[in-house]
Amino acid sequence: MKKFMLMLVSFLLLMVVTACGGNGDEEASGESGETYTLQAGHSLPEDHPYHLGFLEMAKNVEERTDGRVKIEVFPNSEIGAERELTEGMTLGTVDLVVSSTAPVTNFVPELAVLDVPFIFNDRDSAVKVLEGDVGKTLFSKMEEEGIIGLSWGENGYRHVTNSVRPIEKPADLEGLKIRTQENEIHLAAFEALGAQPTPMAWTEALTALQQGVVDAQENPAIVVDQFKLYENQKYMTLTGHVYSVAVYMMSKQTYDKLPEDLREIVMEEGKKVGAKEREMIVEMEKESLQTVKDEGMEIIEDVDTKPFQEAVKPVYEQIEHQDLLNQILDAQ
Ligand code: PAF
Repeated sequence: MKKFMLMLVSFLLLMVVTACGGNGDEEASGESGETYTLQAGHSLPEDHPYHLGFLEMAKNVEERTDGRVKIEVFPNSEIGAERELTEGMTLGTVDLVVSSTAPVTNFVPELAVLDVPFIFNDRDSAVKVLEGDVGKTLFSKMEEEGIIGLSWGENGYRHVTNSVRPIEKPADLEGLKIRTQENEIHLAAFEALGAQPTPMAWTEALTALQQGVVDAQENPAIVVDQFKLYENQKYMTLTGHVYSVAVYMMSKQTYDKLPEDLREIVMEEGKKVGAKEREMIVEMEKESLQTVKDEGMEIIEDVDTKPFQEAVKPVYEQIEHQDLLNQILDAQ
């Protein structure tokens, strides 16, 4: 009996030592079997490409990590509006975000160059710039602020909608109360156009539009359609004044806490998602334009954008990072 007890104790001791011993490499490579649940947030509905992109990324990541990394996607600003989400990434309280770049500029000032009105000749030129040196420089600036840029997506071309009158020329904007994003360049541009801009988060903008606190807003057709803005906005002018870049991002703190092999998979999938999201936006844009027309919105399509471009030209001088601005202009 004594001998049996001795053997049992030795066996149990061996088990404990093996369990605690853990090979350092295994831990570092994520082979310990630890699982991670990441929270991804954005401000748009579940049928918007921001969300569909994240769902696809989540599916691929979960498959490729054998379920060790799960991504939960929260739409409609459920875990914060774009500025709050961005701040959350810098603090490590939010793991993944897709946002238009305008509010991210409050944390990474260099991004302001992307939100300058009429800065890109067209969509293809924008993508070329973003996938080139400028995009790389901006990602490195983001990383300095604790945000890893995964890939560039798009929100779409921003157009002005309002409840007062058809806008055909800058003078028609005179005195209109317009909600803008929380971005100094957008604010300055609408001031230069003679409107009365008020910056606010998208969540607040929806209430302000419903209650008539503001007359106008500016966003791509898909957003106008998905949030049924035609219910209080009669007119939409296809100004296309900003090609609204979106960016898929991850908190640096999340990146650091993931074991190397899992991190690699998340990064690889994150790098792919932007281009897929852009494709979906291009496909959906025409449909949304048709929907808002069918819903009775008056669309001002053949807009001469030259006078708008002239009016916002002084805003170019306000850009702090003129070197980046010139790099964008020279690359097109
Ligand atoms: O206007 C905004 O705040 C943004 O365009 C939106 C609708 C949140 C999408 O990024």
